[in-house]
Amino acid sequence: APASVRKQLAKLFVEALNATLPTQSDAIVPLIDACVAKNGIKPADYQCNNAMSLFAKIKGKQQEFINPRSLGEGIMRNLPPSQMVQSCSVAGPGFVNIVLSKNWIAQSLQRMLTDGIDSWAPRLPIKRVMVDFSSPNIAKEMHVGHLRSTIIGDTLARMLEFCQPECLIRRNHIGDWGTQFGMLIAYLFEKFPNPEDVNESDIGDLQAFYKASKLRFDSDPAFKLNAQQSVVKLQGGDPKYRTAWKQICDVSRTEFNKVYQRLGIRLEEMPESFFNRLIPPTLEKLEKLGLIEDNEGARVIFVEGVDIPLIAVKRDGGYNYFSTDLASLWYRLNVEKLDWNIYVTDVGQWQHFDMLFKAFRRAGWLPKDPNEYPICTHIGFGLVLGDDGKRFRSRSSETVRLVDLLDEAKRRCKVALLERDNAKDWTEEEIEKTSEAIGYGAVKYADLKINRTTNYTFNFDQMLNDKGNTAVYLLYAHARICSIIRKSGKDIEELKKNGNLVLEHEDERTLGLHLLQFTEVFVESCSNLLPNVLCEYLYNLAEIFTKKFYSSCQVVGSPEETSRLLLCEATLVVMRHCFYLLGIDPVYKL
Ligand code: ARG
Repeated sequence: APASVRKQLAKLFVEALNATLPTQSDAIVPLIDACVAKNGIKPADYQCNNAMSLFAKIKGKQQEFINPRSLGEGIMRNLPPSQMVQSCSVAGPGFVNIVLSKNWIAQSLQRMLTDGIDSWAPRLPIKRVMVDFSSPNIAKEMHVGHLRSTIIGDTLARMLEFCQPECLIRRNHIGDWGTQFGMLIAYLFEKFPNPEDVNESDIGDLQAFYKASKLRFDSDPAFKLNAQQSVVKLQGGDPKYRTAWKQICDVSRTEFNKVYQRLGIRLEEMPESFFNRLIPPTLEKLEKLGLIEDNEGARVIFVEGVDIPLIAVKRDGGYNYFSTDLASLWYRLNVEKLDWNIYVTDVGQWQHFDMLFKAFRRAGWLPKDPNEYPICTHIGFGLVLGDDGKRFRSRSSETVRLVDLLDEAKRRCKVALLERDNAKDWTEEEIEKTSEAIGYGAVKYADLKINRTTNYTFNFDQMLNDKGNTAVYLLYAHARICSIIRKSGKDIEELKKNGNLVLEHEDERTLGLHLLQFTEVFVESCSNLLPNVLCEYLYNLAEIFTKKFYSSCQVVGSPEETSRLLLCEATLVVMRHCFYLLGIDPVYKL
């Protein structure tokens, strides 16, 4: 697979650096950066920055270099000839500036059009990776925090998948175990003494069901006792209680799946209950290693640098969130043999994962160096805020139902579509599909475009604005490019085979180079698990196309039509791939 532009340049510079400083014993890592425009002007396309720091090392040892700049000139002279380089110069204290050949850029794009975007996939050293995301809790409705986890986790999984790891698991660690079930089951039996009478629709609104049972729990000591005994019965495997538990879980699952289906999310469920039988043997192993101690009746593990202990077994002998995660991580490392475990939750759970990973390090189950495989990473995201700057809630209930949120996004998009002049040209189905693509795409993009670690304000007006950095703007840009190609009446497949892509105009070149930089931006986005980097790239792509290329270069009917149509097509391919990675369905018509 062809490497990114940066990587390819780095290869050339390794040669140049070694030829310039043959006596340097440590390996020299080329420092190559893409240039950014200052006041609209770029000094070059790329810059090699080694001369300055290298000069400090060799000072006085190699007499021919009197200052960093002369070293830069030496590096430049030793740069092996290459098709990709148009010109090379030294600037300032010793930056080696590279201008890429526009023919080479054009040829690289044309090759991608023939071979497909997968030919631009980087090879990252990822073998067996899991993304634990979404992971809502049964009976407590999926809330906006879970929406963030779902959206971010899905994108991370898609990005990692593009690198073609040996194995990728999209794990839904559903919270289907815990003391709340005692209460729910006790309440279920109270309302439906005969289990056969229970109809899923009777408990369809699980949130209300949960609330009602909590009310009973808090107000009636007899009920409370009953609930506590129900947990014991459930955990002991009593079939009647298992059946009730399963009924309740299935209602939740149905709800979750509706959201997943709408958002096009694939997940493999391995719920908390699955790990229940693995808790005792995992704790036993930790016990043998001497990690577990007694603390006010609870069984705990102390970890480095944290004052409070990790509670592995509660004072009443029951298990908790930690117990399950100890067992599940053990399973992931030893049975699934994953070498990269990524957990996507709100930043509030930072300490939970910090302690979990540290406990595993203490046990020798994870390498001391957190950067050594197998790696565990907690990906934290900020809160979802409402316009008032407070935690996002709906007026009527405390939490916002996700389905309502998606309905509203879709509804608003539909209204906007129906208001368009050409609304009558659209079929009912097109309107439905398009408003879903835009509405759900907007919800996802608004979340993904900001750095995930910050809080994010949920605002329909902002995310559905057709100007600015929104999915609506991007999807329209995509549809507009599609219509340019349609209007030309040309068969793009035919052009791909026989046409020639050239980059003569400066704005064509700018667009072409930006397209070619996809891989390196992707690598940055993926290795730091930051989807916002990819969003920014996509937004810039749409801007460069619209504000530069399309405003200065006529496409249809121009002498350069063929080449420019190919450039449009390359833009579409890259845009669509970004949409795919971000979980957004493209729109072809507007
Ligand atoms: N169910 C948890 C929550 O809603 C998230 C689970 C994350 N995954 C994990 N292995 N702990 O907060």
